[in-house]
Amino acid sequence: MRFDFVRAVLALCSSLAVAAAAGPAAADGVVNVYSYRQPDLIKPVLDAFTAETGIRTEVLFLDKGLEDRILAEGLNSPADVILTVDIARLTAAKSKGVTQALDDQTVNANIPAEYRDPEGHWFGLTKRGRVIYASRERVGDEPIAYADLADPKWKGKICMRSGQHDYNLGLFSAAIAHWGEARTEEWMKGLKANLARKPDGGDRPQAKAIYAGECDIALGNTYYVGLMLTNEKEPQEKDWANAIKVVFPTFENGRTHVNISGAALAKNAPNRDNAVKLIEFLSSHDAQKIYAEQVFEYPADSGLEPSEIVKSFGTLNADTLPLTDISNNRKAASEMVDRVGLDDGPSS
Ligand SMILES: [Fe+2]
Repeated sequence: MRFDFVRAVLALCSSLAVAAAAGPAAADGVVNVYSYRQPDLIKPVLDAFTAETGIRTEVLFLDKGLEDRILAEGLNSPADVILTVDIARLTAAKSKGVTQALDDQTVNANIPAEYRDPEGHWFGLTKRGRVIYASRERVGDEPIAYADLADPKWKGKICMRSGQHDYNLGLFSAAIAHWGEARTEEWMKGLKANLARKPDGGDRPQAKAIYAGECDIALGNTYYVGLMLTNEKEPQEKDWANAIKVVFPTFENGRTHVNISGAALAKNAPNRDNAVKLIEFLSSHDAQKIYAEQVFEYPADSGLEPSEIVKSFGTLNADTLPLTDISNNRKAASEMVDRVGLDDGPSS
């Protein structure tokens, strides 16, 4: 399998060599991107990079096992840049040894310190809020704090995806950082007791469940609302999104849990110079904006505006908790989900 990609890259290089003789556009070579992000989501920003630099991008999309693949490829890995979502995946890439440190003035100036690894192994490009989808019909305008999800007033009214999913583990890890383990566990028991059904599906099906009247509130990421509202291929998702409103829940500091999508320089990076150029480009304010608008996220730099649709949700007051604290609590959060039996649903 991996040799297919190597072969494809080699074939590309030789076709580039031919193209290079014909014109200047391809003369600067290629950069190989290993991505957990869907190719069509990252295409606009990668196209902008190619237009500016003449460097082509080759994207290998994987939905799992990205780090293991790079490890298996070893010194021959064609991976130059890793694109992924979630702090846990970024820190996993670092701890599995498939990244290298990058200390780059441009990148460091563009990305706020709280959204990059102190040792330069990963860089946040966009951020997303873990918010509440609330029924427009059945939920009033009252604020809902994360703590309120354990309030018996929501009994039988909450839907969510698996507690073991990265997005929920990120939130629970943040809760542990804010509240400590004992309080978080009590809270999680209350959340479980309030569930309308066994956790299942992705974030979008939770909006669908609200639309169908199965629950009144759900946990979900901000960008799915933008993706559903604009989904021309599956227009029924527009109905789901129109049935809900985004409520920004907060911890006691008045701030909402955020996670990031980001980039890392791969350990061996055969096209290292091009890879650094790509990471510099992705960190630029223009690229953060294109990227964030395309995927309905927030640019990592809070000084930059998100898309109109995302602005329509209201104001995100992003938590300032260090992302490394969140990834450090991940194991404790995952064990807690099992101990509480969150994924068993409300009845057991
Ligand atoms: Fe997602």
